[in-house]
Amino acid sequence: MSQSGHKLTSIDTLLTEEREFKPTAKFQAQANANDQEIYEKATSNPEAFWERYARELVWRKPWDKVLDWNPPDSKWFVGGKLNITESCLDVHIKTDARNKAALIWEGEPGDKRTLTYWDLYREVCRFANALKSLGVKKGDRVALYMPMIPELVIAVLSCARIGAIHSVVFGGFSAEALSERINDAEAKVLITADGGYRRGQIVQLKHDADEALKDCPSIEHVVVVKRGNFPIHFQENRDHWWHRLIDEADFNCPAEEMDSEDPLYILYTSGTTGKPKGIMHTIAGYLVGVYATTKLVFDLKPNDCYWCTADIGWVTGHSYIVYGPLSNGATQVMYEGAPNWPDPDRVWKIVENHGVTVFYTAPTAIRAFMKWGEKWTVKHDLSSLRLLGTVGEPINPEAWMWYHKHIGGEKCPIVDTWWQTETGHIMIAPLPGLITTKPGSATQPFPSIKAAILDDDGNEVEHGGGYLAILEPWPGMLRTIWGDHDRYIETYWSKWKNIYFPGDGAKIDKDSYYWILGRIDDVINVAGHRLSTMEIESALVDHNSVVESAVVGITHELKGQGIVAFVTVGGDIRTSPELVDILKAHVVKKIGALARPEQIIFAHDLPKTRSGKIMRRLLRDIASGSVLGDVTTLADPTVVEELKRKYEED
Ligand code: WT7
Repeated sequence: MSQSGHKLTSIDTLLTEEREFKPTAKFQAQANANDQEIYEKATSNPEAFWERYARELVWRKPWDKVLDWNPPDSKWFVGGKLNITESCLDVHIKTDARNKAALIWEGEPGDKRTLTYWDLYREVCRFANALKSLGVKKGDRVALYMPMIPELVIAVLSCARIGAIHSVVFGGFSAEALSERINDAEAKVLITADGGYRRGQIVQLKHDADEALKDCPSIEHVVVVKRGNFPIHFQENRDHWWHRLIDEADFNCPAEEMDSEDPLYILYTSGTTGKPKGIMHTIAGYLVGVYATTKLVFDLKPNDCYWCTADIGWVTGHSYIVYGPLSNGATQVMYEGAPNWPDPDRVWKIVENHGVTVFYTAPTAIRAFMKWGEKWTVKHDLSSLRLLGTVGEPINPEAWMWYHKHIGGEKCPIVDTWWQTETGHIMIAPLPGLITTKPGSATQPFPSIKAAILDDDGNEVEHGGGYLAILEPWPGMLRTIWGDHDRYIETYWSKWKNIYFPGDGAKIDKDSYYWILGRIDDVINVAGHRLSTMEIESALVDHNSVVESAVVGITHELKGQGIVAFVTVGGDIRTSPELVDILKAHVVKKIGALARPEQIIFAHDLPKTRSGKIMRRLLRDIASGSVLGDVTTLADPTVVEELKRKYEED
């Protein structure tokens, strides 16, 4: 079971991958970007490139200066005044888009709702007034812990309408993860729901929120959407039903005038230390970035039906469900539940029923679709599709080819989009009418984005592997880590001088195509979600039977990476299969189901250097069954031999 051996071959394959897919003449002729000059022009004048798209958006007062770059601090569209919701809503209700569907929503049980741009505008104004009635003001933080229902989009935009900073916490996170994020941002209001549906089960959001709020002194009010008929606890004076609040609210809510550089949102993501990082984005640069990338990479047209399967709890949902598509006036599908509920063809059924034309998902989902098999895809007419996208982790060429053949009918371009919570918008991806794609490669940087592969000393690697780097600022870049600017500098700007370090390894081929290889730090990418090994280790050590733990990621057939935890228990504790289950459940309680370890291995001791640092590299070798790396710096080399034996017995 040499999994890391397998990984090496797949990197090899990437480098020798020779299949190429040219844009068809038909696609190119209709594409939003179909002139190669876009690249040269953007390279020679990046500011003019972004300015062109900024002019297509709504401003109260135009900017005085496009960019103010004081490394590592950037300001974009300096002096501009705007409200982002005017580019997402107000502008469309004055055009033919007024009565066009903005959101076509399906709940997991099969209930459906469609909101036109006019409907969405009205609901946002109404709920914005409701937030005001609770005392929410410009600059206040509002936390959201919700299922994928239209109210989530409405709540996000309502915050933006009144200048409040939203912090969406993925509904799959645990109560503890929620309270940590609420406390870090000092949120004043929490918006949640009684529950949501996932795989036929009820996700008890309000119950978990109540748990979380036992330890959140900043929260003054909780707003609860009634999604189902779920019994919940209701705390007088603190809790309010969404439907009651909006009943009393006015439909007219003038948008708050904001500065280009005012904060728009905080979104927490895992870092290499235990504490999640509150990635902060500001308004104007982010809007221009998501608007232009949506238009050019997804090639959206007014008559498209677009569907991004991400959850709004992740950045993909912020940028490519909320702000990018809505600022483009798109019609989109939104779905609440699991892709295989009640059957593994749910996604294809939705594509067929709504005539989805542009579809954006993650490699982990594509691998699951592959596993479920073509018998579920052939049941549906997928011929409406014209463009496919992927994001979240490297896509293996086999999965790319399957997507191309069985979903795209060999006629749809695939845009493999590399970006991060921190970058705000797509950074490396093909423009589908211009760039020849290669399975497994994110291809070329988006126009004006200056990427490179560097070595430790900051020298550029022309062909081959190294660290991915971004050499110049871009409009959607994070401005800081909430409350910790030093950590911002330390994490992203200290590897090389004035160069952004995303934490990914990558290769560049003879045609200057980028092949992203994944994280090089102690961050694991499970099913497209970033988890820090430290976070999981802290959760394990938090259990009273555990004294020490080390967590590593191994290649996982479906999830990209799986979690293996090495655990040392206290002297008087007996290890057992039950304890394995208890510890797995404990991690789920502390962080959420997405962090559940695949495997827990008990160890008397963990391999350490003489200075006491756990040698994760060795554990990774053991867990992936490969030949052991260098053990000469080990304090006690026998520890590894013992562990290796145990793992093989398992
Ligand atoms: C990390 C960012 C961006 C939205 C989803 C995840 C990995 C992302 C790709 C891709 C290879 C990718 C990177 C990156 N990643 N897209 N197309 N090919 N790897 O956002 O949670 O901030 O994670 O996901 O490792 O650093 P995120």
